[in-house]
Amino acid sequence: MALAPIDLTDRRVLITGATGQVALPVVAAYAKAAEVFALARFRRDEDVARIRDLGAVPIRADLGDPASLRRLPADIDYVLDFAVARSGRWDVDLRTNAEGIGDLMMQLPHAKAVLHCSSAAVYAYRGPAPHREDAPLGDNHRAFFPTYSISKIAAESTVRLCARRLGVPATIARLSVPYGDNGGWPFYHLVAMRNGAPIVVHPERPNLYNPLHVDDYLEKIPRLLAAASIETTTVNFGGSAPVSIEEWCAYLGDLTGLTPTFTDDPEAFGSLRLDTDRMHELIGPTRVPWREGVLRMVRALTPDALRPEHRPR
Ligand SMILES: NC(=O)c1ccc[n+]([C@@H]2O[C@H](COP(=O)([O-])OP(=O)(O)OC[C@H]3O[C@@H](n4cnc5c(N)ncnc54)[C@H](OP(=O)(O)O)[C@@H]3O)[C@@H](O)[C@H]2O)c1
Repeated sequence: MALAPIDLTDRRVLITGATGQVALPVVAAYAKAAEVFALARFRRDEDVARIRDLGAVPIRADLGDPASLRRLPADIDYVLDFAVARSGRWDVDLRTNAEGIGDLMMQLPHAKAVLHCSSAAVYAYRGPAPHREDAPLGDNHRAFFPTYSISKIAAESTVRLCARRLGVPATIARLSVPYGDNGGWPFYHLVAMRNGAPIVVHPERPNLYNPLHVDDYLEKIPRLLAAASIETTTVNFGGSAPVSIEEWCAYLGDLTGLTPTFTDDPEAFGSLRLDTDRMHELIGPTRVPWREGVLRMVRALTPDALRPEHRPR
């Protein structure tokens, strides 16, 4: 039986990376019931107004600058950590991603639970086989994002250390391909298809992932908080159904009349299929069928790309 979700109503929830692809819909959804504090550097001023319009309180802070975290609101109940730096600079990305969550947790030693968003990119490549949480880790994304995998692995260790030393329960969720009405990787593939550009894939096909729809992660996050433990609960976090890039691009082709073309590149990320057994045990299966999620995404973002029969009525 999956864990019951934590009720966030009227709770004080700090969400980092609040302006990003993954977290912005979380801010929008949870600010309806919880008191949401939305942390980012807010390098674009318009994001401050956007966050306020969603009913959340913007907190301008830099996870690479511990001094800026001293002004955080007190009595935060739950932390949802989605911030990520992808500067490609080792000093910046290790400091922000790996150490920043440590500074944040030490600043909030009374939090009831912390959810740290990690990535399936922490796993070493091993072809189409599913990765269980104890599978070997590796520098998976080096070819395109040189600092990413290693700084995400380092961040996980920081979370475990801080949870244990502070007595703050934590969950590490290793996220796979988030997507929804605000985009995601399949949307970039559609853009490539519309531009007549080839989609770069690993030669060992099919390239399998576990795309996770926004609606599903909104429903699961309070359950992931319920799963938090002082020894840190580490769990894969993706859609229950494995789907390949080739499959979702073929479906995008069906929806639009475009034909995807693929280019093999041994440096491409390659399959990162998740073993979802632990996830199912803790938080249950996901619900949004991937074809439905992808159709909704295209309808929301580029309805003109769709064949007439698929356009919203
Ligand atoms: N998107 C994916 O396909 C994917 C897949 C697997 C896992 N993930 C994980 O999901 C989480 C969210 O990713 P995302 O794609 O939504 O990221 P994103 O769109 O790049 O957003 C990053 C967020 O982090 C904030 N940020 C960056 N540097 C910061 C700093 N020094 N201090 C404070 N905030 C900072 C950014 O805001 P400012 O620039 O305004 O500070 C922004 O709000 C990350 O943990 C990522 O590793 C994502």
